Amino acid sequence: MDAGRKTLAAWENRGVDDPVDEIIAAEAPPSARHIWILGRPKLIAAARPWAPTSFWCDDLRDLEPVRRSHGEDIIANPMDGEEGPVPDQVWMELPESLDALDDILSILHGLAAARGVTNLHVVAGGRIRRMNKSLNDVAARWFDDVHASLGRRRARVLHFSSPRVNPARGAGWPRRNRIRTMNLEVELVAHGGVFHGAGLDPGTALLLDQRGTMLSRLPSRARILDLGCGNGVIATTLALELQGAAAVSARDVSWIAVDSTRMTARANHIDVDVSQADGLRGIPDRSLDLVVTNPPFHRGSARDSAPTRRMLTDAGRVLRPGGQLWCVYNSHLPWGEHLDAEVGPTQQVARTKAYTVTRTIRE
Ligand SMILES: C[S@@+](CC[C@H](N)C(=O)[O-])C[C@H]1O[C@@H](n2cnc3c(N)ncnc32)[C@H](O)[C@@H]1O
Repeated sequence: MDAGRKTLAAWENRGVDDPVDEIIAAEAPPSARHIWILGRPKLIAAARPWAPTSFWCDDLRDLEPVRRSHGEDIIANPMDGEEGPVPDQVWMELPESLDALDDILSILHGLAAARGVTNLHVVAGGRIRRMNKSLNDVAARWFDDVHASLGRRRARVLHFSSPRVNPARGAGWPRRNRIRTMNLEVELVAHGGVFHGAGLDPGTALLLDQRGTMLSRLPSRARILDLGCGNGVIATTLALELQGAAAVSARDVSWIAVDSTRMTARANHIDVDVSQADGLRGIPDRSLDLVVTNPPFHRGSARDSAPTRRMLTDAGRVLRPGGQLWCVYNSHLPWGEHLDAEVGPTQQVARTKAYTVTRTIRE
């Protein structure tokens, strides 16, 4: 990489117009052997002329366009335990969750140690308003040198370098935790950053408490889907309850969620067919008997509920007539009316101040 040419103006000419992308590219050290970009696809164009580049992001909706435009070879998942690239630089989006940051830094630290990379340098960028001192504290568990850049256009990077010889490992990832839901004990396994970690969300608990009614009157060999499976608690609990009497599947758009669900099902010695997918895409019309979901409220930090609305509407397509959609959501949200209008007659089954559980029957 030619340090002389690597100026902000050069990055700007490369079409890096987002303030976070721009400051990551500009702050990265001037020479690199291999750059691993995590979560910011537009940086690929900026990095590629300077060094071999790999890319990963958790959300399939961001990964697929990169696969299409740059080919499969650029895709490398640091979390899947496969032999991947040997980067000396990582350019990454700062995750919102401290657990997600801890998990990914533990993995990068482990990869660097396994491959003898002592000069690993992580440049992690984000909007200043979403940053706090705890991010530095988490990074200091894995790196001796942790410092922040000056802010520019309301963005900033944190630099992590000098991987620690003796890192503060803590409880380690993935996390395991045993929860109880009515008569069942379930072991949950989760990567850092998965919804509610390896715990049981109170809304999901209220939903699972209704499973006696939910699972009554299912046809034999019923086809059940946990939509937006997170740590897999819904799919695994239903599969444990039904003990092979139904085919249980689970999907999520997030790789860490899908992998957590696979680990949770395995930890409970139960079969769940898990896939990474966006909503109900690819599921044939009228092919399911039961869809169960604690739907996402919004995507990342965007407060747009339209994708969730579309996903719930689409449940009407994949359910057979008479099939059921069970949903839990924050009681102030209008999903009940939406389901009633778009999918079929919707009945409130349980309600607390915080959460509402509904059953919708596909007509
Ligand atoms: C509120 S969490 C529920 C997780 C888990 N079912 C539970 O109850 O603990 C919603 C989940 O939906 C996933 N999700 C968001 N958008 C999605 C989409 N378009 N398709 C599939 N899953 C999605 C999120 O990644 C998240 O894991």
